[in-house]
Parts: sequence; structure tokens; C-alpha cells
Amino acid sequence: MDASPTQRASRQGLDWARAEAFLAAERARFASDNSRSAELAARARHHLLFGVPLHWMNDWGTPFALHVAQASGAQVTDVDGHTLIDFCLGDTGAMLGHAPAPVAAAVARQAARGYTTMLATEDAAVVGELLAQRFGLPVWQFAMSATDANRYIVRWIRAATGRKKILVFNGCYHGTIEDVFVDLVDGRPVQRDSLLGQVHNLLDHTVVVEFNDLAALDAALAGGDVACVLAEPVMTNIGMVLPEPGFWDEAQKIIRRHGTLLVMDETHTISTGPGGYARAHGIDADALVLGKPVGGGVPCAVYGMSAALAARAEQAKREAPPGHSGIGTTLTGNMLAMSTMRAALSEVMTPDAYGHMLGLAHRLAAGLRRVIAHHGLPWCVTQVGARTEFQFCPAPPRNGSEADRILDGELEHLIHLGLLNRGVMITPFHNMMLVCPQTTDEHVASLLGALDEVLVRVTPPR
Ligand SMILES: Cc1ncc(COP(=O)(O)O)c(C=O)c1O
Repeated sequence: MDASPTQRASRQGLDWARAEAFLAAERARFASDNSRSAELAARARHHLLFGVPLHWMNDWGTPFALHVAQASGAQVTDVDGHTLIDFCLGDTGAMLGHAPAPVAAAVARQAARGYTTMLATEDAAVVGELLAQRFGLPVWQFAMSATDANRYIVRWIRAATGRKKILVFNGCYHGTIEDVFVDLVDGRPVQRDSLLGQVHNLLDHTVVVEFNDLAALDAALAGGDVACVLAEPVMTNIGMVLPEPGFWDEAQKIIRRHGTLLVMDETHTISTGPGGYARAHGIDADALVLGKPVGGGVPCAVYGMSAALAARAEQAKREAPPGHSGIGTTLTGNMLAMSTMRAALSEVMTPDAYGHMLGLAHRLAAGLRRVIAHHGLPWCVTQVGARTEFQFCPAPPRNGSEADRILDGELEHLIHLGLLNRGVMITPFHNMMLVCPQTTDEHVASLLGALDEVLVRVTPPR
């Protein structure tokens, strides 16, 4: 494996020859330990593109796709009978644990009463009230995924403001809403070349600046033609990038001064606490998006708006000619999704659940710092509530470009595979770990022990 200059930076403190030998041994170990997964992967290869239901499922560091038999609480059991401690938690979809009991009960109850009618149930009004109380925005709509929630809120805001452009931060990810696939390369906006099948020039309507760069934000909005800033309050998808102190206070003033609206995508930062990062840190957004865990892992998403934005959105719809709005899908707001959101919001995403998760995540972050220091590695640990991550650099990155420079997919996969072979699963992208209400101190100790074992094998012998 030839290391690029960036990889060489991320690999400081490692013995790469030992790491390569370790990786080969771990791949062989995975293959011999997971014969049933191997069989299913070979079978699926005949009729599934790339042999998996979603091509990303091949992005794990395993030689072939691990197949799961069941998932419950903080654990996943694979088809070869291994029980894995799950710190990936469906990349936040199962942040409140797999199959939480109140959600499972809601699914069972609703299963006997129908799933989809294109009509509201009593749950709809209740879920609207629960969302308004929790997030402080009064008016809500639904979607089937956070991607779609982002797509629709952007559409509403364009319609409401009459402005076409949106602004995002370099290195962002808001799902597969095409508009945001624009990066800064050497300071210039460039359409992300990994985006498949895209025919429109995204640069016409998407403006991109670095996170934590207030001057660039001000300059980019100065033309008065940007409808909204779509942002995570903490960037989480290029590794974590925290806002610098005061960033959001100033950013909000700038955004407001230019008549632009602010959309907070809390899909990952809901790890912060029951009301998300914005509520906890006094960010006063015009709109908020949340997907993944809001239905306790059942597919659905929500977006909320201020009263002022809701009034403008309703007016835009009334004034538009009759016909398709381009917003929503047939199954949006279906009865099953509404019942699981009611259960998740009222019985699962509780202050008590968060209390446990936050305390445990602090102990996990402290433990990670200890293990990393013990091996003399120049890595840092960042935490946003229940979400913790180690990054291959001594100080946390300040923006997307800095975060991008220290990504090292090969090193990540090596670590992830080593952990998986030792009964611990973390997300396949960068080094993110979530704890859920069922995660215990023993689970955290197992993760730290497994990471220590991996690092012993990839650092110079003592
Ligand atoms: C911040 C953020 N928003 C939106 C999404 C899209 O979620 P989904 O893939 O469930 O549509 C993601 C997915 O990772 C995300 O991280």
C-alpha cells in the first residue's frame, strides 16, 4: 500500500509494515470466522447490485458483507452467531437502541390497524405537539428520510423567499439531496465528482464556504440572493468539526442581516440532548430537520419551521398554480411512521435516556484519550453528547478542508476490522461511536480493550 502525503501525516506514530501484516491477518480471521456471511454474500451477488441491498453496505472494512440475524438494544447478532457490541447504531438510526420496547409495541399495535391511507391519524396532532415542545418551532411536516426532509425544506424556503441559491459548508453531508454536493477545492467551488448521474450544474445555485469562516459567510450572502444556509450545527460527516466559540452567535447575525434563513440539520447532532444542539446552545433557527432516530429506527423524518416561515410557505403554495408541488411522497406521514414517532418522542428520547448516554459517552471519550496517549499517538477525541470520535490529528480540525486532509480510509478500515473481529462494531465512515440507552460501562470497557489490542499490533513493538 502506497501512502499519500496525507496518509503519511495520519500514520505518524504507527509502524506501517506491522499494520499491513495485521490487516492481512485480520482479513483472514474475518473470512474464517464468518462462513455463513460469506455464503450469503456470494448468493446475493447474483441478483443485487454489488451483492448488497445498498451499495454503501460494501464500504465497511470487511472482505465481504457481514450479514445480520438480529439487532436488539446495544447489540447485533450476525448470521454466524457472534454477538457484537454496536457503537455504530445504524449511523444514528438506532441511536436510542435497536428495537426500543415502546417503538416495538407501537409497531405491533399499528400492524393490526393498517399502515398507510394518505390520511391523518390521531398520532399526527400528538406528534406535532411533541415536536413543537421539544424543539421550539411551531409548525411541522414529515418525510420518509432526512434526505427528503432537507430536500423539501429547501424547496419550501426557495418558494417562500423567491431566492434560488442555498449556502452550505465545505465538506458537508445532508443526505443525497443533490444541491449540497459542492466542495471547495483550492478555495474554488467544484461539483463533487463522486455524484452519479447528475445533469444540472449545481454551482449555479449552491454557494459553499468553510465552516468557522465568518468573513466568507458574510461575503457569500452579501448579494442578497441566498434563500437559506443549510448546516449541521457541528459538522459530523467529514469527521467532526466543532463551531469555534461565538461562531453561531455571529453567523446568525450575518445570516439575518442578509435576509437569509437558517436551517439546522440535527439528524446527527440530536446526539447532544433531547432538543438537539441548536436548542442546547441557543441557536435560533428558522427551520430544523431531523431524520434517522425520530421514529426509533423506523423510516421517517421531520422538518419544522418558525411561524413566520410557515406563513410564507402557505402563502407560496396558495399563490402557486394548481398541480404537483414537488414536495412529499405517497407514503409520507403514513400511519405506521406516525405511531412510531409518537412512541419514540414520548417514551424513548427522554431526558433519562440522554442522561445515561451522555455520562457514558464522557467516560468513553476519557477512556479513548487514555488508550491513545498510552500508545503515544498524535490523535484527538471529539465528543458531541452521545457521539464520540477519534481523529488522526493532534488538535480537532477547524473546517472541512482540514478535516478532509486527515481522513485515511485504509487506516480506518484496518481499525474497524480489528475491532469487529474482537466483537465491537463502530461506524464504517471515519471513527465515530455512539452510545445508546442500553450501552453499559462493560461495553465501553470492551471497546477500549479491543482498541488497545489493535493499537498494540500497529504501533512499533515496545
Ligand atoms: C446530517 C445529515 N443529514 C441528513 C442525512 C440523510 O439521512 P438519510 O440517509 O437517512 O436520508 C444524513 C445521513 O447521514 C446526515 O448525516
